[in-house]
Amino acid sequence: MHLTTYLAAALSFTLSTAIPNPFSPDLAARSATCAEGGKSVGGPCGEAHQKGQNYACGDHRILKCRAIGLTWQTTGGENCAAGEKCSVCLLVSVVNGHESHRRAAPLDTYPRNTVPNGDGPVLYYNGTGPVPGVDTLSPKPAALPSLSTQQVSNAIVQEVVAIAEGKFQSDNCSICISSVSALHIASLSLSQDAMTTVLIDICETLDLTSLVDHGTCNSYFSGTGGLGPYFAQLLQMMSVATGDMQAFCFYEFKVCEAPPVVEIDESAWFSPKPANKGTAPEPSGETVEVLHFSDWHLDPRFDIGGEANCTTGLCCHSDSANANLNTTSLDPSLPASRFGDYYCDTPADLGLSAFKSMGRNVDLKKVAFSIFTGDITSHDRTDQFSQALAEYEERSAYATFRAQLGSSIPVYATLGNHDSWPSGFNTPNSFRNDTNSFSWNYELLSSLWQTEGWINETEQQYASSHYGAYAHTTKEGLRIISINSDFWYTPNIFNYYNYTDPDKSGILRFLTNELLAAEAADQRVWIVGHVPSGGGSAVANPSVLFHSIVARFSPATIAGVFFGHTHQDNKQIFYDFAGASNSSLSIRNYTDLNYDTPLMVGWVGPSIVPLTNYNAGWSVYQVDSSTFEIVNAQVYFANISNSLTWNGEPDWEFEYDARSTYDPECQWPATAPLNATFWDGVTNRMMSNNSLIQEYLFLATKKSPMVAISDSTESLAGSICAIRSSNRAVSDTC
Ligand SMILES: *[C@@H]1O[C@H](CO)[C@@H](O)[C@H](O)[C@H]1NC(C)=O
Ligand SMILES: *[C@@H]1O[C@H](CO)[C@@H](O)[C@H](O)[C@H]1NC(C)=O
Ligand SMILES: *[C@@H]1O[C@H](CO)[C@@H](O)[C@H](O)[C@H]1NC(C)=O
Ligand SMILES: *[C@@H]1O[C@H](CO)[C@@H](O)[C@H](O)[C@H]1NC(C)=O
Ligand SMILES: *[C@@H]1O[C@H](CO)[C@@H](O)[C@H](O)[C@H]1NC(C)=O
Ligand SMILES: *[C@@H]1O[C@H](CO)[C@@H](O)[C@H](O)[C@H]1NC(C)=O
Ligand SMILES: *[C@@H]1O[C@H](CO)[C@@H](O)[C@H](O)[C@H]1NC(C)=O
Ligand SMILES: *[C@@H]1O[C@H](CO)[C@@H](O)[C@H](O)[C@H]1NC(C)=O
Ligand SMILES: *[C@@H]1O[C@H](CO)[C@@H](O)[C@H](O)[C@H]1NC(C)=O
Ligand SMILES: *[C@@H]1O[C@H](CO)[C@@H](O)[C@H](O)[C@H]1NC(C)=O
Ligand SMILES: *[C@@H]1O[C@H](CO)[C@@H](O)[C@H](O)[C@H]1NC(C)=O
Ligand SMILES: *[C@@H]1O[C@H](CO)[C@@H](O)[C@H](O)[C@H]1NC(C)=O
Repeated sequence: MHLTTYLAAALSFTLSTAIPNPFSPDLAARSATCAEGGKSVGGPCGEAHQKGQNYACGDHRILKCRAIGLTWQTTGGENCAAGEKCSVCLLVSVVNGHESHRRAAPLDTYPRNTVPNGDGPVLYYNGTGPVPGVDTLSPKPAALPSLSTQQVSNAIVQEVVAIAEGKFQSDNCSICISSVSALHIASLSLSQDAMTTVLIDICETLDLTSLVDHGTCNSYFSGTGGLGPYFAQLLQMMSVATGDMQAFCFYEFKVCEAPPVVEIDESAWFSPKPANKGTAPEPSGETVEVLHFSDWHLDPRFDIGGEANCTTGLCCHSDSANANLNTTSLDPSLPASRFGDYYCDTPADLGLSAFKSMGRNVDLKKVAFSIFTGDITSHDRTDQFSQALAEYEERSAYATFRAQLGSSIPVYATLGNHDSWPSGFNTPNSFRNDTNSFSWNYELLSSLWQTEGWINETEQQYASSHYGAYAHTTKEGLRIISINSDFWYTPNIFNYYNYTDPDKSGILRFLTNELLAAEAADQRVWIVGHVPSGGGSAVANPSVLFHSIVARFSPATIAGVFFGHTHQDNKQIFYDFAGASNSSLSIRNYTDLNYDTPLMVGWVGPSIVPLTNYNAGWSVYQVDSSTFEIVNAQVYFANISNSLTWNGEPDWEFEYDARSTYDPECQWPATAPLNATFWDGVTNRMMSNNSLIQEYLFLATKKSPMVAISDSTESLAGSICAIRSSNRAVSDTC
């Protein structure tokens, strides 16, 4: 038993001085200092060593006598050097006495060196004697010469190029993630300027000019384009830990699988829907008119007579050209009409005529207010755009809206992805620890809205520090909550750090808090944003949280949701989730919808701009003056095919009436709103009537002859699915 314990200790080599001593309990390890003349003194075993005596220096399996110059020998010799620490040494005869009882075995610790080495040195076991200790430091290699920033940059470029060329991994997702990870590490130490140069070098080496929006690698990242420093900032904040690289590679390059949608505990956002908030209030039967216009995109560089059928970038500019037909704006294949073209932004006469047509087709005295769902600036290529151009266009647009609609029709506007510079870029206020780089824009837009008298000073100040978001009560008593949807817009690169946080900016917390207050006050709400929460332009995590919020407050508090962005006239139905949320944590499966419970409809307003291949349009709603639900809607359009034949001004025509188109037999009650239940019924009929979904798709283009409508049932089913998708996770299943 004793021996077994010892053997176990000997084999493991991990035990300390607590190991039972195999020879004698008196051989407990103790430390002593070697005195002059080979004597160890001190400690309880302070007896002097005698020259010529044989000693076992402690138990070599238990104690280290190494690095102390103690050379214990079986016959004579100096035992140790003066002043050095050694284990207490005991007379070998004690050991021998013990040993004499049995034969030496391979695992015995004493005696050792029983095989003579002649003139050779004493050979040691277990690091005893002069054998260097395990903690002995070795000299460091001479340092390589330190690298210049240029050399570091070159090395990064070389690595990323090698990764991109498939030298490391060959699937495009791995290549993308590895490249972005390498750039992330580089961005931690390189300056923004150095990173900009790295990005330009990589772009040029890999010939990524197709990604630089018709500029050069240099003009996109540096100079007039100037995006390099923004990418450098994003790269510094990204982390594999939150799946940022995968998200970036999925949303920006489509080379990876979509990252999983995060689990969101709804109870951290709102209390469950109260039992008395399950239905919308009864309609009053009275209506007011509300105008909805969107995607203005006025182009102050529109070159009348320039090339309107160009092959790169935005047409109708003085530098537009058609490479296939070998034409330029000096000798265009299709001269740009001053009233607009299908590949061009809005020329002034088209934009202004839209307002004139509102006055002709709607009794403006009955218009309570208007909503503008964003996008003011032109689609100029990145390296021809600038902060100054954005400022100029924002100022002139809102002054124009006011001049055209007058002071009695307020415009409740929202910030679009094109109402910023660089386009779509927005950062959460927490991104930097000082000021938001984009606050100039929030300050400008909110000041314009205040100057025109659409929001008051308190609301302006809120908007200027909350990315343009505000809540305002109209004189009719409707609460309008305008939010900045760039925080779910896929090209906003700053959505790809800390990806798993569905609300880094706090915009959805603001929305929820406003809705809770409105619910408590029994007030009806419209939510106004630019990028739809469903469809391919939304990032999944914030879009599913938005869907949760809308489902929670519909249909009792929210009376309408409004977007723009697609340039089409679309609907987006919000359904309730199937079953209860995960009981303890209130966690949803965001693709598991209950299609029997439509709760809200998002109205995606048609664009004024014809880009790309659409006609110009705007809409007007008849809105219940007490519930603020939409009772009917009409759209007016300008057929851009005829733009070269118009005289004086564009010809705006009535396009369609929602009730007569989608309820031709008047089965829906006259005072009932065209709510989610109505539009759900329309989609159900579409499923068995291809003509109906085709008609919807044609109206979505504002009756453009330029867009081919599919007649494949599978493709049409995808279009119906898109109407029934109000978050990105569901859209991805279509
Ligand atoms: C071997 O050395 C280690 C570390 O010094 C010690 O913990 C162990 O007890 C020694 N083993 C024997 C059998 O002496
Ligand atoms: C990876 O990307 C390259 C370059 O865009 C493309 O040619 C190739 O087809 C892609 N490979 C796969 C498997 O998608
Ligand atoms: C535009 O140019 C393309 C060639 O780049 C040509 O195929 C097309 O028919 C032209 N379209 C119009 C409307 O002129
Ligand atoms: C394009 O036009 C230019 C100038 O008119 C002419 O010199 C050139 O040969 C033309 N190229 C082609 C491919 O037609
Ligand atoms: C932000 O700045 C404040 C004041 O300069 C400082 O106390 C705080 O530690 C900073 N926080 C971070 C996360 O850098
Ligand atoms: C702005 O309107 C809100 C109510 O909508 C009000 O609470 C606030 O005091 C107003 N601010 C100013 C400066 O009038
Ligand atoms: C990332 O998001 C988490 C919440 O999901 C938050 O606690 C954390 O502060 C965020 N980090 C950064 C760098 O924004
Ligand atoms: C609720 O969600 C948590 C976290 O995903 C999960 O562990 C748990 O099993 C779920 N419970 C139910 C009842 O689905
Ligand atoms: C979520 O719901 C969808 C649709 O019902 C289902 O296909 C999917 O498996 C569900 N996901 C999870 C994780 O339960
Ligand atoms: C829509 O209106 C109809 C008719 O008033 C009503 O039965 C239905 O519950 C409403 N749907 C919603 C989601 O409010
Ligand atoms: C638009 O104009 C074109 C060209 O004149 C014409 O073919 C087309 O039918 C028009 N569309 C509508 C809806 O009137
Ligand atoms: C299908 O839809 C078309 C277009 O709205 C309509 O004219 C037609 O009557 C519908 N057919 C049926 C059977 O409802």
